[in-house]
Amino acid sequence: MITKVKQEFEKRYGPDAALYTSPGRVNLIGEHTDYNMGFVLPGAVDKGIYAAIRPAAGPVSRLYSVDYDAEISIDLTGPEAPKEQWAKYVYGVAQEMAKRGRTPGAINATFGGNVPLGAGMSSSAALESTFAFAFNDMFSLGFTLAELAVIGQMTEHNYVGVKCGIMDQFISLHGRAGHVIRLDCRDLSFEYKPFDPAAAGYKVVLVDSMVKHNLSGGEYNERREQCEAGVAVIAKHHPEVKSLRDTDLATLDKYKNEMPEIVYRRCLYVVEEIKRLLDGCDDLDAGRYDAFGAKMFATHDGLSKLYTVSTPELDFIVDVAKATDGVVGARLMGGGFGGCVIHLMRENVAESYLADLQSKFNQKFGLTPRIIEVVISDGARRLE
Ligand code: GLA
Repeated sequence: MITKVKQEFEKRYGPDAALYTSPGRVNLIGEHTDYNMGFVLPGAVDKGIYAAIRPAAGPVSRLYSVDYDAEISIDLTGPEAPKEQWAKYVYGVAQEMAKRGRTPGAINATFGGNVPLGAGMSSSAALESTFAFAFNDMFSLGFTLAELAVIGQMTEHNYVGVKCGIMDQFISLHGRAGHVIRLDCRDLSFEYKPFDPAAAGYKVVLVDSMVKHNLSGGEYNERREQCEAGVAVIAKHHPEVKSLRDTDLATLDKYKNEMPEIVYRRCLYVVEEIKRLLDGCDDLDAGRYDAFGAKMFATHDGLSKLYTVSTPELDFIVDVAKATDGVVGARLMGGGFGGCVIHLMRENVAESYLADLQSKFNQKFGLTPRIIEVVISDGARRLE
């Protein structure tokens, strides 16, 4: 992909491009907790977006998407947003920077990626982070990595329409090979945690359910609103409660009857998940992979039954995983409504489990689910 991006650049815009990349991510546990100010445990992966970029005379920038084989000319800091979805991410990043008083110059750029699209691995955050990092570096704008993450997140809110949390952009910018980060989404403090399951004979494997997830469907934003509705009920009695992070099960249960049942169920999942993540970190620290895996199954259960962001395909994969000795944990990963299942398994069962799963899935749904191998890798960077 890097070679293709570079060749396209040279063909269209000539020599001397700088190359940038920013990765997609996995998240071990802590789903739908980020916008509730809880914790997440993501790692950057060895698949991302690659861009070749050179400053241009301006004001018009030229962007070429290798994946869509489409080119546009646009003033990235002008008032008119592009119609093409893929270009909105780049436009939004430039706009959000300009709003903060540091305006990037015009560019010529080609880009493309190898993050499986729709698999819940944050290809869109990888795209935002690639350009946020590149603009910052190329035009010496002086934003911190955390500020760049917020710029990417606000691009989603204001130019794409998804009211996402901070996890995806944050890890895409801060990732480190061999480490996941435990991020506190309330104050953005974080800790790198070495993650090397292979040393203990375990393995992380992703299986794509082949249902493309797309968060712009409104369901994601609706979950967020339901969580906020629950917080509003609790805050009437406890004004210090600003998010689900600030409460606990006993308090939530106390006001259960004042909220719609569906709001209670959403909140219950989130409050349990925030606790599950903290306990799960203790498991990882102590090398208790089986106990950690059990929490992944519990997360899936909550995502499926309480938060209702699963699909029959995702549930089917997790059921097969549960019934297989040596597969110690599995759950849908990312926003849901499709995408992939992240598994934790003993290395020695991987081959037979995956073959069995593919054949069972194929019998039921008539498709062979794709297996995605990932290596936990570095975050955004300039390549040359
Ligand atoms: C998507 C969002 C993230 C996060 C996850 C669910 O990936 O972009 O902010 O909310 O869903 O954990």
